[in-house]
Amino acid sequence: MSRPAGDPISELSRDGSGGIYIADEALADSVRQGMARVERLLHESVQSEFEFATRTSLHLVEAGGKRFRPLFTLLAAQFGDPAAEEVIKSAAVIEMIHLATLYHDDVMDEATMRRGATSANARWDNSVAILTGDFLFAQASRLIADLGAQAVRQMAGTFEALVTGQMRETVGVPGDEDAIEFYLKVIYEKTGSLIATAGQFGAWFSGADEAHVRALERIGRILGTAFQISDDIIDIASPANESGKTPGTDLREGVRTLPMLYALADAGADPRLRELLARPLTSDAEVDEALELLRASDGLTRTRATLDEYADDARKELASLPDIPAREALSTLFDYVVARTR
Ligand code: IPE
Ligand code: IPE
Ligand code: MG
Ligand code: MG
Repeated sequence: MSRPAGDPISELSRDGSGGIYIADEALADSVRQGMARVERLLHESVQSEFEFATRTSLHLVEAGGKRFRPLFTLLAAQFGDPAAEEVIKSAAVIEMIHLATLYHDDVMDEATMRRGATSANARWDNSVAILTGDFLFAQASRLIADLGAQAVRQMAGTFEALVTGQMRETVGVPGDEDAIEFYLKVIYEKTGSLIATAGQFGAWFSGADEAHVRALERIGRILGTAFQISDDIIDIASPANESGKTPGTDLREGVRTLPMLYALADAGADPRLRELLARPLTSDAEVDEALELLRASDGLTRTRATLDEYADDARKELASLPDIPAREALSTLFDYVVARTR
């Protein structure tokens, strides 16, 4: 799963979904140059006099990844000056915070594969994975200090939301709450909040109009929530070699995602599927059986319809932005999120 350094466009196109295609040459050039700068900063920022920390951090930096969040930041920055140093810094900060959460998430989810490579917890151990996440968070904090107190405050709030979402998911839905509403709140917190900040930072540090900064934050919320829904579909529907992760991880962890919740809400759901979704699954055979049933369930079809609705909502928000090539490219990001699940 290695990726051509600094080429997010072809990276996103590699999954066979058509990916994101930026038709405008000047925009594609600007994004490529921005991504190359982000990439350099990411590598510089994980350098430590303690070589082991650099090595464990570079493990996932270099394993690949779509760089979806910094790409969104750079597109949002097109509504102002996309080459501003603060734009590049904020994009790198966002990717580093994302990376830190991946190290921690794989410990919590007991995942063994990430970005097509062995996860850090599996390659080393939980302590190394947790400390590498902390190390990345420290380096991201150093970088964001250059962006001013308001940015630090904003990121603190985002990180709080992210952690709260992960905690809510761990604790599970309270008895008096609707499971689907709870799920949507969790995914906004754990994934949507950071992607919303990615859009907001890009626009803000490019010097874009205040109204555009707000619109890109709202678009990011929708994009981030849709992105997590698509990830949850992929955990059920895709073969391992395509996502770079092990399918069925949510089933093993007993995390009920939208396709499962919809399947359970369907009165005609297969009784065996109900039985399997009632507890975390430990055996490969049971995971395979549940995946088979889910793939054929109404739950998956309904989740895809929900994803389409998010993309439609986003297109309405996009209409408030000036009609420049970046607006078209942002729309393509939503096409990508939908297409990666098909
Ligand atoms: C994985 O994010 C975690 C989620 C929020 C779903 P990505 O799918 O963006 O992971 P990378 O960065 O490409 O590895
Ligand atoms: C991702 O949650 C959210 C964060 C990393 C904060 P998941 O557990 O659903 O993501 P993947 O599928 O492992 O990437
Ligand atoms: Mg996980
Ligand atoms: Mg998780």
